[in-house]
Amino acid sequence: MIGVDLTVNGERHQIDVDPRLTLLEVLRENLLLTGTKEGCGVGECGTCVVLVDGEPITSCLVLAGDADGVTIETVEGLASDGELNEVQQAFVKTGAFQCGFCTPAMVLTVTALLRNDDQPDVEDVKKALGGILCRCGAYPKILEAVVEVKGVGI
Ligand code: FES
Ligand code: FES
Repeated sequence: MIGVDLTVNGERHQIDVDPRLTLLEVLRENLLLTGTKEGCGVGECGTCVVLVDGEPITSCLVLAGDADGVTIETVEGLASDGELNEVQQAFVKTGAFQCGFCTPAMVLTVTALLRNDDQPDVEDVKKALGGILCRCGAYPKILEAVVEVKGVGI
């Protein structure tokens, strides 16, 4: 076992974990934050994206030990005082999902994008979301949700 120190959604966790576990596994199984989804488990689908120090990363490709000391945001941390963040609200308003399996990764990635650039163009949005597969094909509605948030020129 190894000790890791993770700050997740503003809460510090100092826990001992099996060094073979990925960050995705620790989030879901140790911290019970099951909003982060496992699709492929090998870095190809993007459904496991969380924000690490503000940047989207595929958590299935990171060993938990290598995440020691970082700050993590998962979809569970986006709402504040029981109110969804503006990206989550836009996804709901536009119906930007079907099964919802890719939605946590999509919402986190759009949230990170808009923190850094509040007027992205369509290519910026497609590039940001390019690593996340939506098996339901909800991409047009997801782009509509981004427009809904910022009225960007998409
Ligand atoms: S589960 Fe991590 S990229 Fe597919
Ligand atoms: S809404 Fe089903 S995978 Fe995207």
